[in-house]
Amino acid sequence: MKAILRALTTIVVVLLVMVVVAWGFVYLGGFDVAAAAPHNALVERAFVAARTRAIKVHAKSVHSPALADSALAERGLEHYEKMCVVCHGGPDRFPTEIGRGLDPAPPDLGVGVNAWTDGELYWIVKNGIMLTGMPSFGASHSDEDLWAIVAFLRKLPGMSPETYHAMQEKVGHHPSEHGPERDGAGDEHASHREGSH
Ligand code: HEC
Repeated sequence: MKAILRALTTIVVVLLVMVVVAWGFVYLGGFDVAAAAPHNALVERAFVAARTRAIKVHAKSVHSPALADSALAERGLEHYEKMCVVCHGGPDRFPTEIGRGLDPAPPDLGVGVNAWTDGELYWIVKNGIMLTGMPSFGASHSDEDLWAIVAFLRKLPGMSPETYHAMQEKVGHHPSEHGPERDGAGDEHASHREGSH
């Protein structure tokens, strides 16, 4: 009985010491929250593995509709332009200024999307990725719009800037539901692949 009590007391004391040390660490600003601070390589590897498994498992039950229709991809392009280019860039620009300041960095989706199925891409865009800059778009977009974005993402790999611009021209620029747009805004703050900036 005495031995159990002593063991319990030791556990409680150790836990208390741990709480005080953790509190002291936080109070003294020991945890560096700077976005520019490098991540611990081991923590990063563990997070990437956990993220990939979580997405693959959660997206298993998502069934993709047919996505080949080019009108669907064009509708997706409009959303891509307004909400994704700012971080991920596009066939004519990569990386962007915001993208360079994020860690983990938003990948070039012309390459990145090949690693995921349609259902997984839908899941990522709908739910976002916790503790990264990747937002969730499920609250602000209908299922049809989310699938249109996936349809466009599927066309990104290997897309030339010329094809991209032709597609942009086809859909035209609508001062859309994503908020007001200034004349020429957007372009001047993106670094172009051609290196004009
Ligand atoms: C505010 C910046 C930001 C915006 C806006 C953004 N993303 Fe992301 N996205 C990220 C970051 C950062 C990651 C990397 C997350 C990680 O490494 O786990 C990411 C990851 C992804 C991935 C996974 C890619 C891979 O290879 O792992 C997809 C797909 C994606 N984003 C699609 C989109 C789409 C589509 C949009 C627009 C509807 C969008 N993102 C808007 C920052 C952003």
